[in-house]
Parts: sequence; C-alpha cells; structure tokens
Amino acid sequence: MNKIPLPLIKLLADGEYHSGEAIGEILAVSRAAVWKQLQKLGDIGLEVESVKGKGYRLRTPLSLLNETNVQACLNTLLPGATARVLPVIDSTNDEVNRRIFKKELMHKGDLVMAELQTAGRGRRGRSWQTAFGKNLMMSMYWSFDKGIERIDGLSLVVGLALAKVLQGAGFNHVGLKWPNDVMVGDKKAAGILLEMNGDPTSDCSVVIGVGINVNMARGEVEGIDQPWVSLSEIKGQSIDRTELTEAFVAGLIGEIERFEKKGFSPLKEDWERFDWLADKSVVVKRGEVMAFGVGRGVDKNGGLLLEHDNGQLTSYTSGEVSVRRQ
Ligand code: BTN
Repeated sequence: MNKIPLPLIKLLADGEYHSGEAIGEILAVSRAAVWKQLQKLGDIGLEVESVKGKGYRLRTPLSLLNETNVQACLNTLLPGATARVLPVIDSTNDEVNRRIFKKELMHKGDLVMAELQTAGRGRRGRSWQTAFGKNLMMSMYWSFDKGIERIDGLSLVVGLALAKVLQGAGFNHVGLKWPNDVMVGDKKAAGILLEMNGDPTSDCSVVIGVGINVNMARGEVEGIDQPWVSLSEIKGQSIDRTELTEAFVAGLIGEIERFEKKGFSPLKEDWERFDWLADKSVVVKRGEVMAFGVGRGVDKNGGLLLEHDNGQLTSYTSGEVSVRRQ
C-alpha cells in the first residue's frame, strides 16, 4: 500500500469543506500534490466530495485516534506502558508479535493500535475486515510470570471487560457468545484474538487482540461472513474512538489484574450475566464431531457448559459454537 497521507486525512476529518488552496498552504505542498494525495484517499475507502468554489470534504467525518490521549490514559493505569497508533499495518497482533521478538515491547499493557489493517486476522483462520479510521483495532502485550493455567479463561475476561464498558456506556442487550464474541442484540459487535508466546506453565506472554465495530457503515467493507453491527448504528451517531479506547483499556486492565490474582472463578458470575447462549439450543463443532445441548453458562475455568438431552452437563473448552435453528 502507498504511503497514507495522514496530515491530509487529519485536516479533512472534520467533514467540513476545505479549499485546495487552503489545504496546500496548511500542508505546505503544491496544488498538484494536494490533488495527488486526494486521489490516494479512495484507495483506502475514504470518499471525497468536491464542490466548485467550496473545495473538498470527506463524505463522512472521521473520529481519528489521538495517540497522546491514549498514552496519557494508559500511563495513569500502568506507568511505563506505551501506546502507539499506526496509520496502517498488516495486523496489530502481528506487529506486537514482531515487537516482542525484537524485545521492543516488554511492558505489561504496551498497546499497538491502527487506523487500518490490511491483513487483519480473526479466529479460526478467518480474516477481520475494517475500513480506515472507523473501527478499533488494538493489540495489547501482557506477560504472566507464574504461568497461566488457562488462556481460555483470559479470553473470556477480555470479552467481559468490553461487555461491561459497553453496558456502562448505555448499550442495551450486550451479550457474550462463548468464548469471547461480543454481541449487541443478535449481531457481533467485537471479536477477540488471543495469541500466546512461550511456556504456558511458566513465563509466557500473551497478545490480546481486539477488534470493535465502532463507526463502520454498511457497504464500507465486503465479505464479512456473519451478521455484524457497529456501535454507531445502535447509538444513531458517530462515536469518539479515543474515548472508547480509554474506557476499554481501563476496564481491560482492571479485569486482567483481577484475573491474575484470583483466576477466572470469581468472574464466572459476572460473565454469566452476559451469557448470550444461556438456555439456547447450541451445537459445538470440533472437526467432524458435533455436540448438541442447551447452554448452561460456564464452569470455573471458563469452559462452556451444555446440558444434553439426558440431563448430563458437559464442559467444552474448544470448538466452533453456533445456535441451532429450531
Ligand atoms: C474474531 O472474532 O474472529 C477475532 C477478531 C480479532 C480482530 C482483532 S483486530 C486487532 C487484532 N489484530 C488482528 O489481526 N486481529 C485482532
């Protein structure tokens, strides 16, 4: 991908008209260079409108991420942790993994965010699609020195943190579809991808990748293979992505620290308040093997509990879960 003209995007983010001349002056480039940069915006899905005598504007204003504010917020929670906002990257999880490898990220809570991912990854080898400057794509580094018994428990905790933040922000019908899809109503609003490096029984590090559909509109991306919703669709207005990041980062760090001290067990009840599969007829697919049952919450380690026809409860720790059509 060509270099993203970030100063131009920042200038146009307000959704107001800006004349070519004014843009050229502010960015200290020629009119021809302004025109070239404007062309590039289409490549990343930003639609520019031009009106003679008025200038250029973005069809929809953008709430860009403010790195300074996210960094300041992170520092009050975990002094020394760093937040970086990249205009474009393949995947923030890949970037954090690379930085861990180069020993550039070593502080719990170190955060990498991006305005655009070109190769965003979802669970089970799926891709994760987003548009420039619309959603939240973040990956946080965390390390566990005594080992982490169950990374599954941690992934539930990340979803729980987001569910609580959304509920606190006034969203209704927030649910958690085991293991960690965040639903609003019956559509997915956020997904979580955890990746572990090292030995789970001793020192290990985890990359906590979270993608939240914030201001993405229908038609801005193609090929999402499951029902999804953006938070702005529900609110009926654009959402400040920096403020949402700050609220989520604070909630996330709080929940992880609780989990580090006491494990998943004390968070089980909290999680079950959001259980989207509760009392639904569910199928868990593991390769060719399918298990059927009714959702009955989670066990003390975060495994999914299903009640089978014979009344027996079984806990599942992996598999692709869906609700059965009646
Ligand atoms: C899923 O529900 O399938 C998980 C989606 C996880 C997407 C996020 S976006 C930030 C981070 N970087 C990635 O490439 N993936 C995660």
